[in-house]
Amino acid sequence: MAASDYVDDPNQRPPVIGAEEDGGAGARRRDFLNIAAVSFAGVGAVAVVVPFVNQMNPSADVLALASIEVDISKIEEGSGIKVAWRKQPVFVRRLTAKEVNEANAVPTSSLRDPETLAQRTKPGKENWLITMAVCTHLGCVPLGITPGENRGDFGGYFCPCHGSQYDTAGRIRKGPAPTNLHVPEYAFKSASIVQIG
Ligand code: FES
Repeated sequence: MAASDYVDDPNQRPPVIGAEEDGGAGARRRDFLNIAAVSFAGVGAVAVVVPFVNQMNPSADVLALASIEVDISKIEEGSGIKVAWRKQPVFVRRLTAKEVNEANAVPTSSLRDPETLAQRTKPGKENWLITMAVCTHLGCVPLGITPGENRGDFGGYFCPCHGSQYDTAGRIRKGPAPTNLHVPEYAFKSASIVQIG
């Protein structure tokens, strides 16, 4: 038969899988339902993702704790205070001239974790030693922030847990702690206010 002789005879058409006797209306309805189901699934996925992303954003109180301002105007020479920052204690200590001199007199080559006092403080503010109050051995809070406490053999801090001793620059001098007391990020906002964090 020539192409021009072709006659569309429904009885001669090959069967279509899934074809309905209603001329395909059922298939179209099912397609619509499938598309609708996929669309709702997409909306559901977005609805689940949004709260998840929101959970990852720090809340206002967490942001507020990211940095703190400390009034240092009442701290006397030779003493200090302990403040909380990001749920950890921090020592803010005002060294005497004698304590500064003692720290500067130590050859860094003799230190387990060699650092000068100048490297651990701000220029022109060497007498303000700001460190984490967390022993670098196993995390106890050392003694010595106030003059009445045990400051160990080096005049800085003494850890009561296993006997680590730090000098007046907060550097490890004796005992099991591997490193100096950590110095957090901080900046002087004025003569009397220090921002930590
Ligand atoms: Fe300080 Fe062990 S935790 S010496």
